[in-house]
Amino acid sequence: MVLTVARGTSRPTPAAAAPKAPLAYTWSKALEAEMAPIYARVKNVITPMEWPHYAPLIKSINSLKEQRQAVILAHNYMTPEIFHGVADFRGDSLQLAKEAARTDAKVIVQAGVHFMAETSKLLSPDKTVLIPDMRAGCSLASSITPEDVRMLREAYPGVPIVTYVNTSAAVKAECDITCTSSNAVQVVESLGAPRVLCIPDQYLAKWVQSQTKVEIIAWKGACEVHERFTGEELERMRADEPGLKIIAHPECPPDVIAAADFTGSTSHMIQWVKDKQPRKVMLVTECSMASNVAVEAPNVEFIRPCNLCPHMKRISLENIYECLLEMRHEVTVDPDVAVRARRAVERMVNLTN
Ligand code: 13P
Ligand code: SF4
Repeated sequence: MVLTVARGTSRPTPAAAAPKAPLAYTWSKALEAEMAPIYARVKNVITPMEWPHYAPLIKSINSLKEQRQAVILAHNYMTPEIFHGVADFRGDSLQLAKEAARTDAKVIVQAGVHFMAETSKLLSPDKTVLIPDMRAGCSLASSITPEDVRMLREAYPGVPIVTYVNTSAAVKAECDITCTSSNAVQVVESLGAPRVLCIPDQYLAKWVQSQTKVEIIAWKGACEVHERFTGEELERMRADEPGLKIIAHPECPPDVIAAADFTGSTSHMIQWVKDKQPRKVMLVTECSMASNVAVEAPNVEFIRPCNLCPHMKRISLENIYECLLEMRHEVTVDPDVAVRARRAVERMVNLTN
């Protein structure tokens, strides 16, 4: 049984501006030669026209990173010039959270959205955590408040609350444990309870419900990128593209998941493509991920349903450069909130280690 409760979602926003500060490096024959090994890797997803713009930015960011003793944690939805050009660690929400806890760098730049930067700060409280654009939010994170969670506690006394990491630290602080799309079923079952509140993604909750006997009570949040896909659209693609394999993220609606060959977190989807090497595949998720996987799976043809996340797309090479140059925008968490939110995140990390 899935019970749902409604709230709003955030809307698409404009792209990031060009860097205001001059770059440490400019395009030249020498730079072209030095950056050739990186370009060789991404040449199928970045055109020769774009490269003279990206290469000086990549070189400038990589040298600033050393000066600042910084690492860049990049989510799988970052564009390929970020993902393959400047990222030190790449992955899904769980992998990035674990990396944040492990790193001995002084500074973490989160190439992702705000809740991910907050999670890094929770797990690395002594490090400086920066995000290139503070407006990089998430429709799931904005669908629920700490007051909402307190209301749920009152309505369902004794029922444990699992929150998806796609929430604010203040919401996590009210919950028993966090989960990501790669461990949601494991986290729910670890609680040993007959009923569990699984917030805020109604579709992730439905997917978990399909995988477990624990009764799931959901909130009515949704990812504005994944909720746009439909099962009908997938069936049309299958009819148009014989032999097509379709793999979906669990934030998709149930009819999409029913029409897919596999469902999993962004990293599980990437692993599936690498292992199975399908001739043709459609990744039912944010659009940039297909470009990133294409670099590592050159024999696979990607059919792209291009849904972009406006929040992830706020992050660019330009604002990563400015962020490192000016050491902005620092992400902090109120200490009282941090103690309680960290408990919920660490409980998940310990369970999956
Ligand atoms: P993953 O943990 O699967 O990377 O999902 C994060 C996310 O925001 C997907 O929309
Ligand atoms: Fe949030 Fe969806 Fe964007 Fe992921 S893709 S950050 S869930 S809005």
